[in-house]
Amino acid sequence: AAATDYQAEDATISQGVVESNHAGYTGSGFVNYDNLVGSYVEWTITAPGGPADVTLRYANGTTATRPLDFTVNGVAGAVGITFPGTGDWTSWQTKTMRLTLAAGTNKIRARATTADGGPNADKLTV
Ligand code: GCU
Ligand code: CA
Ligand code: CA
Repeated sequence: AAATDYQAEDATISQGVVESNHAGYTGSGFVNYDNLVGSYVEWTITAPGGPADVTLRYANGTTATRPLDFTVNGVAGAVGITFPGTGDWTSWQTKTMRLTLAAGTNKIRARATTADGGPNADKLTV
């Protein structure tokens, strides 16, 4: 099936804020994770079920990688996915992982695991 974009700024955000001060995002902005362990963005998407390629578009203007753990409906899906520096906050890159999705509704959560928080998150494509 064709991939669909799910904007981070439209998702459920815990300990993060929607901003638009760094150019190059899609939609109406991006999520700036609070820089702490446990901040997250959670997208609710529907899927036919089975393995799916899931792509996060992000920016990281630092030189330290910012890992995220991805869960699907509360179950660990892709752990310790790294989001390395992209050069500056206006340079956006993508990282793709494979997640096993349920048929129907899926809550895909991307949770920061270091005190740096996550990278700035633009959108998830599934
Ligand atoms: C800067 C930048 C933010 C980013 C933050 C961070 O403040 O403007 O967009 O989220 O650094 O280091 O997480
Ligand atoms: Ca941040
Ligand atoms: Ca966006």
